[in-house]
Amino acid sequence: MPYPYNIELPTLVVRAHEQAERLGFPMMPQGRPIGKSAPTTTITPADGALLRALVAGYPAGRICEIGTGAGVSTAWLISGMLPNSSLLSCEINPELAGAAKSFFQEFQFVEIRAGDWSQALNAEEPFDLLFFDANIKEVLIDSDNWSRIASLVRIGGKIIMDDLTPLELWPSEWKDNIDYKREFCLCNPQIAGVEVRTTKNTVSLISTRIY
Ligand SMILES: C[S@@+](CC[C@H](N)C(=O)[O-])C[C@H]1O[C@@H](n2cnc3c(N)ncnc32)[C@H](O)[C@@H]1O
Repeated sequence: MPYPYNIELPTLVVRAHEQAERLGFPMMPQGRPIGKSAPTTTITPADGALLRALVAGYPAGRICEIGTGAGVSTAWLISGMLPNSSLLSCEINPELAGAAKSFFQEFQFVEIRAGDWSQALNAEEPFDLLFFDANIKEVLIDSDNWSRIASLVRIGGKIIMDDLTPLELWPSEWKDNIDYKREFCLCNPQIAGVEVRTTKNTVSLISTRIY
């Protein structure tokens, strides 16, 4: 195989990208431009492949996604899920949630739930794996919310976050910023977390809840 390896997109992901283009979610395969504003994008192929690899470790897993968007990351998750697993994906925007419901209707094990995750997931048992992809910074600024986020997964369960900028690529004007995703995942006694470089411009965080 020639280097670098190309990530082959599963058919469902290709179809989800077509739907995402129609809904105004472009893909930027190498991540969004650093330090510049950009539209909300779909997950990159590298981060999607990471989700697929991780979700494939949970036979009969209870999987959750917060922030369905146009459904590209949902498609990656489905592409890796094992038999008897289920996926609950929550989206606050009713139009996006409605579009995703129609798009994924053939998958009986997938529920798209419209609403704000902080209300919509209240009655749920802890999940095995959570992809948190919705404005989490605002929630994590207050560390009193950390244990609530951690308890969305069971002990041993995983929380994945994507779309971080490698620290060495931070523009100088960011030098005093606090990165709340990193704080939660890397400086949190409930969490064993690690950064994973997924492209030259992007980092994801993989965290396991340890108590
Ligand atoms: C970055 S986009 C998701 C992209 C998608 N996960 C993907 O990678 O293809 C973030 C999504 O989170 C949704 N969102 C924002 N706040 C939310 C909340 N409180 N509860 C549920 N969804 C929320 C937004 O409407 C948006 O569609």
